[in-house]
Amino acid sequence: MKKIAVLTSGGDAPGMNAAIRGVVRTCVYNEVECVGVFQGYDGLIQGDFKRLHVRSVSKILGRGGTILKSSRSDEFRTVEGRKKAFMALQREKVDGLIVIGGNGTFAGAHVLYEEHGFPVIGVPGTIDNDLYGTDNTIGYDTATNSVVEAVDKIRDTANSHNRLFFVEVMGRDAGFIALRAGMATGAIAVMLPEQKQSIDALIQVLEKGAESKKTSSIVIVAEGDMLGGAYEIAKRVNEKYSGYDTKVAVLGHIQRGGAPSAWDRVLASRLGVSSVEGLMMGRKDEMVGVINDQETFTALEQAVTMKKMLNVEELRMSKILSI
Ligand code: F6P
Repeated sequence: MKKIAVLTSGGDAPGMNAAIRGVVRTCVYNEVECVGVFQGYDGLIQGDFKRLHVRSVSKILGRGGTILKSSRSDEFRTVEGRKKAFMALQREKVDGLIVIGGNGTFAGAHVLYEEHGFPVIGVPGTIDNDLYGTDNTIGYDTATNSVVEAVDKIRDTANSHNRLFFVEVMGRDAGFIALRAGMATGAIAVMLPEQKQSIDALIQVLEKGAESKKTSSIVIVAEGDMLGGAYEIAKRVNEKYSGYDTKVAVLGHIQRGGAPSAWDRVLASRLGVSSVEGLMMGRKDEMVGVINDQETFTALEQAVTMKKMLNVEELRMSKILSI
């Protein structure tokens, strides 16, 4: 490995910069040249490379977003697009590629490897935490903290007015943020993509809460929940239950921004180091993760196709705690 390229792709996540820094510093430490690819796979197709030196990544450890920018590339989903990307890597004389991103990013990286045999290592960066092969993804902790901060504020006003709030959080296919934030903010219920729930069951929970003198209530709804999101659930609850004045808050992209937490900075730094070390050891077509505090490599195909399950114990306990 004489030259490694690094890119960020898909939805950005706080801590991606710390991972880029980890990659660059580990390259420099091992006297491997490092180039950044701008704008994800779109930039790779266009050959948008820039040499990264040891000081190119100074003061970015605590910065949100990604200095390399990101994209959701349609062209990379095509055979021609991936061929162009491979040719650009060849022209630049890159020996290995590190992609920081989520499910879509890794699906693309795996196909690039299958079609062209190009050594790729994935670093899990997504606030959704929905990747098999790692306990936590980069950005998940920070995003959850952002949700908790927002919900604590909503709680103040909800309580003053005896209101019920439906708070929608990110998570198209996974309820990790919703479940964690729900427990951390004392939500009365969490609505998740992984779980079939009914409006009647939710109303029962709300009624019980009101009977036991809950003055305000928060329901956290993952955007991909099975009932259609916070507005839809609020509407359907209101049709049948009038116990509370209800409001809806959709937190949106504030969840993706902000300075990464200490946890995310450390996780991202470790994964950045391990991704370069993995490539140097001849690993390819794998994702590096941390399981039980131990660096682990999982085949990209597995990381993409296997479903990471919610912690059912956490789910069970959150029901006990929310009565
Ligand atoms: O995958 C991360 C994520 O933030 C999801 O939770 C969300 O559904 C999606 O990205 C939003 O993507 P975009 O910023 O492209 O609208």
